[in-house]
Amino acid sequence: MKNLFSLLFFSSVWFLNAQTSAALVDYYPPGPMPDRIITSWKTDPSTSFAVNWRTAVTVTKGIGQIAVASASPDFDSIMVTEAISEMLVSDLSAAYYHSLNFTGLKPNTTYVYRVGDGQNTWSEWIHFHTAEAKEAPFSFIYFGDAQNDIKSKWSRTIRQAYSDLPKADFMLHAGDLINVAQRDHEWGEWFYAGGWIYQNIPSVPTPGNHEYARVNNKTILSKHWRPSFTLPENGPTGLEESVYYLDYQGTRVISLNTTAYLSFDQDSISQMLWLDKVLQNNPNKWTVVTMHHPVYSPAGDRDNPSLRNGLKTLFDKYNVDVVLQGHDHTYARGGNNLPIGATVIDSTGPVYAVSVSGPKMYLSNLLPWIDRAAVETQLYQLVQVNKDTLTYEAYTTLGELYDKFKLIKTGNGRKKFIDLAPPGLKERIDLTTARLEKLNAAERGKWIERFNAYKARKLVHEEAIKALTTKGKMVKAKKKK
Ligand SMILES: [Fe+2]
Repeated sequence: MKNLFSLLFFSSVWFLNAQTSAALVDYYPPGPMPDRIITSWKTDPSTSFAVNWRTAVTVTKGIGQIAVASASPDFDSIMVTEAISEMLVSDLSAAYYHSLNFTGLKPNTTYVYRVGDGQNTWSEWIHFHTAEAKEAPFSFIYFGDAQNDIKSKWSRTIRQAYSDLPKADFMLHAGDLINVAQRDHEWGEWFYAGGWIYQNIPSVPTPGNHEYARVNNKTILSKHWRPSFTLPENGPTGLEESVYYLDYQGTRVISLNTTAYLSFDQDSISQMLWLDKVLQNNPNKWTVVTMHHPVYSPAGDRDNPSLRNGLKTLFDKYNVDVVLQGHDHTYARGGNNLPIGATVIDSTGPVYAVSVSGPKMYLSNLLPWIDRAAVETQLYQLVQVNKDTLTYEAYTTLGELYDKFKLIKTGNGRKKFIDLAPPGLKERIDLTTARLEKLNAAERGKWIERFNAYKARKLVHEEAIKALTTKGKMVKAKKKK
């Protein structure tokens, strides 16, 4: 008996040790070669772009070289920029994170750049295209939470997005890029998943609650955040590089930090005051907001009324166009100002989207604000802006079009909203038997009730739309006579 006890005790200790040591193996160690290379913007996207990268601590200096790209392998007039290098000690290793901002560039021009130690270790030469200095068509990809199994199951989403979509000008990450804020391994997976895509398509990330850590009784932004990204520092004091805006070819893109907003009174007040100014003094035609926590929650009984009492009042006052969010691990698109299921209406105020690009899934609450839902589905979105039209398309991770709408500016601050969700494509809201069996009786009852109510609402609207269409045909037919 004693032997059996000893065996069990030591086996469990060995098992725990094995688990612990497995978790502490550095599978993405820093080396002399630059890795985790990522582009973003700190200043004007038409004349500058920023690059961050990591090296082992033996490389204390970072250098960037840049030239106008040429099909010839000989690059003329190479300019040199020195990086700011800061040491980051993570749970796994110490490394230098280097960051620089290439400035004084020509708009709408393809450059080649590389980063390294200035002597022996360099990245490859990488293409990067600067923005136009005026309003011009562009597109970007929007990802909801990556967060879990990033290498295993999020990588397919970002790679499908990259291979399927027209050339996107940037990638917007709506928070919870990783699961445990200070765990270097997870950042290693995030950089592995996107690989060299980050190097020539800049990232516009906003932090989620999982980018926050509890350290010495304080809630702080991941120590990886600021060394990993170079972002505009035009936000409120203390929230630089998490609250910011940038103007891209006629569109103002705004990142808000809802974790700080929901956690600290001073950060909600400072963001409200800042946002009021940023929206009031906005010369751009379009305004896109990204933030992690949703204004309307599509999962379970989650709700953040303070976002509606605060931020939403400014979105409505200044007629923000779209709000792209995450956090709830399910797909929902709708708008409080839009009749559910309407196909063509006049609209003011934003369209709200919540999406998930990684594999962690929550049950949708299928509440009345939702016009299009999906459960248990990894997605990415493409948003295209062209003069007076903004087109939003959601794709499953297989590259299938799942949802679509257009917003068209019709003057005097008014917009036409056109719901273009593929007709006849069944909404992905059925739960598998296995998923249903995981719910307890109360959860299952609530799900079935919400599911039936959603279906009933949809049916009413589909019939109303059919009737409208028939009426429209009759009117046309009469006119012909
Ligand atoms: Fe979250």
